[in-house]
Amino acid sequence: MKYHIVTYGCQMNLHESEKIAGILKEKGYDAPSSLEEADIIVFNTCCIRENAENHAFGNIGALKKLKREKKGLLIAVGGCMVQEEGKAKLLKAKFPFIDILFGTHNLPELGALIEKKRTQKKAVVALSEERGETEDGIFPVRTSYPNAWVNIMYGCNNFCSYCIVPYVRGRERSRDREEILAEVRSLVRDGYREITLLGQNVDSYRGGDGTTFPQLLDAVASIEGNFRVRFMTSHPKDFSEELVAVMKRHAKICRHLHLPVQAGNNRILRLMNRRYTREKYLEDLAILRREIPDCEVTTDLIVAFPTETEEEFQETLSLVEEADFASAFTFIFSPRTGTKAAQMEGRISEDVAKDRITRLVALVNSKTREKSARYLGKRTEILCEDYDEKKGMYLGRDQYGRMGYFRCERNPIGEFVTLKITDANGISLYGEEADGPA
Ligand code: SAH
Ligand code: SF4
Ligand code: F3S
Repeated sequence: MKYHIVTYGCQMNLHESEKIAGILKEKGYDAPSSLEEADIIVFNTCCIRENAENHAFGNIGALKKLKREKKGLLIAVGGCMVQEEGKAKLLKAKFPFIDILFGTHNLPELGALIEKKRTQKKAVVALSEERGETEDGIFPVRTSYPNAWVNIMYGCNNFCSYCIVPYVRGRERSRDREEILAEVRSLVRDGYREITLLGQNVDSYRGGDGTTFPQLLDAVASIEGNFRVRFMTSHPKDFSEELVAVMKRHAKICRHLHLPVQAGNNRILRLMNRRYTREKYLEDLAILRREIPDCEVTTDLIVAFPTETEEEFQETLSLVEEADFASAFTFIFSPRTGTKAAQMEGRISEDVAKDRITRLVALVNSKTREKSARYLGKRTEILCEDYDEKKGMYLGRDQYGRMGYFRCERNPIGEFVTLKITDANGISLYGEEADGPA
């Protein structure tokens, strides 16, 4: 039997879709397929911003016809949007053809829910408030070779005032240190070349034995083998010199830190409940760059938070200049029901928000291009991860997170390849394979 999974949202969700595929495989759905050919279609949803939800609503709605025409087709919808207050009910009312609705905490039960659906006509709904400690027994079907995602923790306790994640992913829970290390060891043995440790806020990791995140990272990077390590996401309030020291100690850890700053003005940062200042953020970057001069930093930025003035927005622009980010994800504030910020007065009009994001994106892109241009004529080592049919080229990322394309006669996917950069087109690099180290 065939399956099709549609995933929205962050890397956490991409990895959870791999776990969903693992559960489906156990249930006899063992071949991924197109939407039309599938015997079960699973939507793994996101609700971080309104447009993420609108996409899912549109695409689920479009299945009505297929469901009517294809006898036996199962449609399951899970993930963050389903966990959101009132949304499961709304989905059920709007799309009565959905067979299974499962919240973020119910993912491990999906197999049992499929069984249950076989015995009852009406939709099966599973919405718990909490998830168990770990997920032993789920074997993800990994889809991102040579990269592998490894959860180190779930949930978030930070309650940034704009963010829905703490409501839909629940409280922080860390996985056991030994369990994580065993998973990484086995992935490395299986030939995975890049391990990304995942958590909404990795710095909050606390193993049962008291292990901190820097200690865990140190242990992961000490595992023998030819692989590199990434981690995300870090929270600036938890930045520590200990983390920098561990990064510096291990060549296996990529010289890249994703450190979402969100805004450049202290009043807005306070309203966001981020618990650091612009000055503290820049000081921490200075420490990082003093210790690891080539470390690249990327970030997330939100414009048009309630009451943000033009002057305050300009502080986000000036921060982008000062912080020298390699790239940034940029978002317009999206009010999420149930969060503090959604109740704040002083919403910014759509026109102003669009104007701000346009200016911010232009600045971020020009900085990214500037950085790309510095690569010209230089060498960098990428981990080849895929083939781009349209370009007729292989591609991969260097440790700094920059994408490089190149032509190659053999199939080098899974190899570390040194490129000599011959062209830098905006965010991407183009090069030729070169001998020797980068
Ligand atoms: N745990 C991570 C990722 C959170 S979601 C972190 O703390 O950084 C990824 C990004 O989405 C956030 O960093 C933020 O920039 C953005 N985001 C979250 N909620 C948002 C909202 N309501 N409106 C606009 N952007 C939002
Ligand atoms: Fe959301 Fe803040 Fe938690 Fe990140 S740290 S998931 S932005 S609440
Ligand atoms: Fe979206 Fe949930 Fe991730 S809301 S960004 S899929 S944690």
